[in-house]
Order: sequence, then structure tokens, then C-alpha cells
Amino acid sequence: MATLSPTIPSTVSSFPTHERLGMFGRLYTLSVLLYLFMGTSARTLGNDPFELPILGDGSIPPPELITCQNSAQLPSWAKLNNCCPPIPENSSKMITFKEHLNTTDNTKLRVRQPAHEVVKDPEFIRKLERAIQAMKDLPDSDPRSFKQQAKVHCAYCSGAYPQLPWIYSAADNPLQIHYGWLFFPFHRWYLYFFEKMLGKLIGDPYFALPFWNWDHPDGMQMPRIFTDNVTSLFHKFRNTGHFAPTMVDLNYDEEAGDDAGHQISIKYNLHIMHRQMMYANTPELFMGRCYRAGNEWSRLGGGSIENVPHNTVHDWVGDPEMPNGEDMGAFYSAAFDPIFYAHHSNVDRLWSVWKTLPGKFRKDFTSKDWLDSGFTFYDENSNVVKVTIRDCLDTKNLGYIYKDVENLWVSEDFKPKPRLALKTSNAKFPAAPTIDETKFPLVLDSTKKFYVMRPKQKPKANENLILLIEDIEFLSFFRVKFDVFVNDEGDKSCTRTTQSLLEALQPFQVVKLGKQKNPV
Ligand code: C2O
Repeated sequence: MATLSPTIPSTVSSFPTHERLGMFGRLYTLSVLLYLFMGTSARTLGNDPFELPILGDGSIPPPELITCQNSAQLPSWAKLNNCCPPIPENSSKMITFKEHLNTTDNTKLRVRQPAHEVVKDPEFIRKLERAIQAMKDLPDSDPRSFKQQAKVHCAYCSGAYPQLPWIYSAADNPLQIHYGWLFFPFHRWYLYFFEKMLGKLIGDPYFALPFWNWDHPDGMQMPRIFTDNVTSLFHKFRNTGHFAPTMVDLNYDEEAGDDAGHQISIKYNLHIMHRQMMYANTPELFMGRCYRAGNEWSRLGGGSIENVPHNTVHDWVGDPEMPNGEDMGAFYSAAFDPIFYAHHSNVDRLWSVWKTLPGKFRKDFTSKDWLDSGFTFYDENSNVVKVTIRDCLDTKNLGYIYKDVENLWVSEDFKPKPRLALKTSNAKFPAAPTIDETKFPLVLDSTKKFYVMRPKQKPKANENLILLIEDIEFLSFFRVKFDVFVNDEGDKSCTRTTQSLLEALQPFQVVKLGKQKNPV
């Protein structure tokens, strides 16, 4: 936004996109409110004008397994009706992370490699296939079985645990590890224990998960190791139309589907990556909104990478024949697909990479409320381990690193550029109301445009101008995606079909707040 000329108002248009609501035979509505405020990069979290009251010290403690309840948030067509883990009979099986480290071998760093490169390493592929098969062969009651591991993700994302067990039930205020600052650390810890279990099952403590390097041209296809239908890495509920050689669309939109009209190209994906990685220059923009004890997850908003390409790649892999894009396209079922772990390995890598990018504020949150928040997992010896975020900030603490790969999207070549021709003074702007003339709530049943005046004061060098859209209401279970364009100058450039022309867009940042309405 900083490149907008202060004399030129910007318009914002939103495209509603949604899927599969027809099955309920109801109209989909969405309300959008728009605010513009100055957010400085140095702003402390406590100044968040939308922050809710905090209970206790603000951190969200690792859940007690015993408080897990059948989740009300599972759709009726789900193959499972309960995501809860087995409860250990013996409390001596509960240990701290320090104690866990004494029972595990982390002395030699495990190196996670790109999934497209391991194709040249048949020994590695055999190990991975063997390890996943061994997990699938464990009895369902074993906490290390593939099914139980997949359910771990389901429990943490479908409202099975109360956020604060001594205050709430899971129904009142469920714990949610998506849409906010728990997203990166939760998945890092989850993959850590998953990887340790695989290593143990094949007797190789240095076994490392591969990562699906979808942000690199060579990785922009579904990795072939996952699509050979005779191995344990194959999964039935996927979009087979997206198997290689189809190129991944990092900004995939289920409604527009593959007919979006834009040629998915390497350049297009690298533009998306540049925007998501380089413009997110504060912890909140990159990792999502803070989520403290007592906050409700419906007020959250995910960080840049969580929204795109994390969510979009989930949707791109999921089976379009399934009601909500299962398995990868829905959180409760996503981890039943072995590709999930390679997808998240790359998301996890990007967190590490982001911290190395230039910029004073590309750092982890420093709030104790975040650092002391935590999760509960089984380890490879079936001990229950309570972990906190502060112990996972450096992957070396967890005994692994990523193989260095080229992050081409860093290059300025992939920066969205304003089209100079339209910046001339006699450019025609579309007739659109100003934000004050716009009646809220807006129902996103068609494209909406309006002018938002820039604040008179120009942002200082260390400030970001942030467009905040809040009070978005939508039906739960269904993923909602809509696009916001800044400086859509009325030449019809900003349609789904020409969205690949990123040069048409000004750089912008959007923080989304979602409020859920449950389907009746
Ligand atoms: Cu926990 Cu990729 O979702």
C-alpha cells in the first residue's frame, strides 16, 4: 500500500468464492467491514485494538488428554466420530520435553530433503514407505498408529479439547490451533513426534521426513512418491486430476477450480510466494493473530502463509468428489493423507526461512503468552509429552534441519508492480461509493467495490499501512475464500481470469477476522 499515491483513492473489490453450499440449498452470505489503520511494525501486541480479555497468565496450556470430548464440529458424513487419543493407564508415562530428550537420540541432525529430489534415492523411498506402512500396521489402539496420529490433528482443530479445561468445556471455548499464532509451532511439534515414530519403527533414529517443495519450480507438482497407487504413501481421496504433470496452483480456488483461465505458471506461483513471504514483515502478518487464554478462536485470523499457500494447497490436493474436499481439503481428515506431512514439512521450513529474510521485525513473537503455550503429544516410546512453544523455535533443538534449497521467490523480480500507464492523472476511475457511503454489512454475492481513503499521514519507514477486514461471517465446515484487490482501477483487470497478472495489483496486506455461524 505504501506505493499508492496519496492523491489517488484506492478501490477494494472482493470476489465471493465458495463451494458446495448447494447441498444445503441455502444462500451463502458474508459480511465485510473494513477499517484502515496505521499499524507500526514495532507495535506491541498489547496495543491490538481488537484484542479480547485474557484469562490467567495469557498462555494456553498443553491440553489434558483426558479432557478430550467427542467433537461436535465433525460433519455428519465424516468417517470418524471421535478424534480423541487413547488415555494412558499409567501416569508415569507422562514426561516433560527434557525427559523425552533423555530417551531419544537427537545427537546427529536429521536432514529433511525435498520430495522431488528423493526420487533419485530409492533407499530413502523404501524407508519412507516402510515406515508409513509399519505405522498403518500398528493396531488402531496404539497411539503411534497412523490412524491415531491422523486423529491428533483432528482433535486439535475440530474442537475436541477445551481451551482452558478448568474454565470451559470444549463446546464453550474449544482449543483451535489454526487461524493464529499457534499454527506454526503446533505443526512443528506434531511433525517432530511423527518423524521420531517413523524413525523408531524402521530402526533409524536419523530418518527425516521429506518436504514438498511446492515453492520451487522443480517441486510444483504433486510429488510422484505419493501417487504410486501400490505404496503406503498413496491415498485414495485426492484430486487425481492434479497428479503430475499438472502444476500446483498456490493460490488455488475451489470454486474457480482449474478453469480459472489463468495459465498456472512458475512465474505466477513465485509471485504468490513473494507476496506471502516478503510482504509479511511482522510476526502477526506472517504467523497470524495472537490467541491468548480466554480468546475465542472465531476472532482469529491466520498469517500469510497459513492462508495461502497452506490452505490452498490443502484444497488443491483434496478430492473434489467429497463433500468438503476430504481428505486434505478438510482439517479433521487432512492428516489421514500421508502427503499431509510432506506439505507441512515445507510450511515448517518456510517459518525457518522467513526468520532469515532481511528486515528488523521478521522475528518470532516474544510474548510469554505465546512462548509458554503448549501442546500434548505421544512420543515414539508411547510416553505422553507436554511441550511448550519456546522449545521449538530452533529446529536444531528438535534435532533436525532442512536441506538448503534455492528460494527463487525472494527475488525482486517477483514483486507485484503497479502498471505505470494507469497512474497518469487522467486515468479513469470506476464509479464506486466511498467506505462511508457503503452500507454494512455487505453481502458478498457479487463483486463489491469502494474507495478507502488513505490516512493523511504517510506511513513512516518502520510502519505498515494495514487494511483490516473484520467481522466476516460464514458457515462453519466450509472453507471460504475471497480475493481483495487494492487499486483495481476499473479496467476489468481484476477478475479471476486475469488474476495471474499480478502486475495489476498494488502490494497489500490483509488481516482477516472470521466469525463463524454454525449451519442449523
Ligand atoms: Cu493443521 Cu495444514 O493443517
